[in-house]
This record gives sequence, C-alpha cells and structure tokens, in this order.
Amino acid sequence: MIKPSTGRSVMLAADHGYFMGPTHKLENPRKMLEPLLPYADTVAVTRGILRSSIDPKWDTPILLRVSGGASVLKEDLSDEEITTSMEDAVRLNVSAVALSIFVGTPHEKQSLINLGELVNQGEDFGMPVMAITAVGKELEKRDAKYLALACRLAAELGAHVVKTYYCENFRKVADGTPVPLVVAGGPKLNTETDVFNLVYNALQEGAVGVDMGRNIWQNEKPVAMIKAIRAIVHEKATVKEAQNIFAENKSTVGEKPSVDRA
Ligand code: R5P
Repeated sequence: MIKPSTGRSVMLAADHGYFMGPTHKLENPRKMLEPLLPYADTVAVTRGILRSSIDPKWDTPILLRVSGGASVLKEDLSDEEITTSMEDAVRLNVSAVALSIFVGTPHEKQSLINLGELVNQGEDFGMPVMAITAVGKELEKRDAKYLALACRLAAELGAHVVKTYYCENFRKVADGTPVPLVVAGGPKLNTETDVFNLVYNALQEGAVGVDMGRNIWQNEKPVAMIKAIRAIVHEKATVKEAQNIFAENKSTVGEKPSVDRA
C-alpha cells in the first residue's frame, strides 16, 4: 500500500457509503471507481462494495473498512463496532483493515477498545490495521491539538497506520505520531488548487500520502485529479506542476491508464 520506491501512497477512499449511503457521485461505485483504480495505490471500501463493485481483474490493494453501526441519520456517529471478521478480511485477500476511533465522544472508550481488539485479531493473521481519527459531524474539531491527541492514541493502541485530517500546524500531529500518517480530504473544497495545496502541505509537514475520496471523485474530472495528486505524492510535483497536470488531463477522463504501479 505504501510504495517502497517513494515511501508514499495515494489511497483512494470510497468507504463513505457505510454510514452516508449513496453519497453524491458514488451512487454507482463500479462506474466511478473503474477509471480511477489504475492510479490508486490502495482503494478503501467495505466488503459489500468489494464484492459487488470491484472486479477481481484489478490488482489494486484493498483497505477494508471493518467498522460501522451508525448512519448519518443519527446525531452521534461515534456508536461503532467491528462489523467484519478478520477471517473474512483474509478470505477477501485484503491488504489491511480500517476502523474509526472517536476520541472525545460519548463512545470514545468503545471505539478505542474496538481498535485494540482489531489489532489483536490482526496480529494473529499478520493483517495491518489503519485507525481513522473520525470527527463525525464535528468538522470544527480538526485542529492540531485534537488530532495530535487522537493520532497518538491510535498509534499507542497498535495502529500500523493512521488516517487523519490536515490542519494548521500539522507538523505537531506528525511529530507526535510514530507510525505513518495519511490525510483525508474531507468535504469537497472550492477549487482544485485548494486540494493540491492540502496534499502538498500535508506531505511537507510529515504525511506519507493521502486517503482521499470526495475531492477526487466529486470533481468533474476525477481521473485528472488523481493523476495530479499522484504527481505531488510520488514525483514531488509542486502545486503549480499539479495544476498543469490537471489541465493537461482534463479532456481525457476515462482514458486508458498509462501508469505502472509496480
Ligand atoms: C469516511 O467515510 C472515511 O473515513 C473516508 O474514507 C475519509 O473521510 C476520506 O474520504 P474524504 O477524502 O472524502 O474525506
């Protein structure tokens, strides 16, 4: 999942449906994901979407979302448990499993115990675990003090990799987290340049990559977006270079892939 050649990763997040339902632009996951898979080092999905919507011909490593239990209809999204067995994760041949923790919420303890339990189960099979520092509907929580705490708790409990949000003073979050960190994109930003800045800055300040969804597949030109983001992550492209790559690829959405992920 993290490419040895660069030590970095472009993870494509498509696991939103497990609590958000048919999220805008991801109503038909197969249709949206197929053109993007060749450019993703990993794709994050639930087992339902893996079975129904990702053809076995693809060799993109799978990050399997294994927590759930709440929906957007509830005010508090933190009431999650482990929903998928480690045996099924192994049977599905996934590369890692992912679970949300909800630090500072009514179900903080439950979600942290879920993480410890998932790591315990994973150790029996050699299965890496990603912890996701979820904030539910409280997007304003995404500051360095909170995220540094949540990421450190995740690492201490045994997560092999942590997904969090980019924030001001992100270096503080990265410095306090002794395992690889990737950043989510969050709700769609206003411009492509905003996304490229987020990715560029996160990498400069210690992230090893992204696990990004809506800012790729809710864009009108998702293939151009993932190509530009890939250049920042793996080729050290600047924001200006990413803008140029996006512009060059805007008219070729859905084209046959040309990247070699080996
Ligand atoms: C939430 O469903 C997941 O943790 C997403 O995978 C995560 O938020 C990344 O997706 P986005 O970039 O759309 O925020």
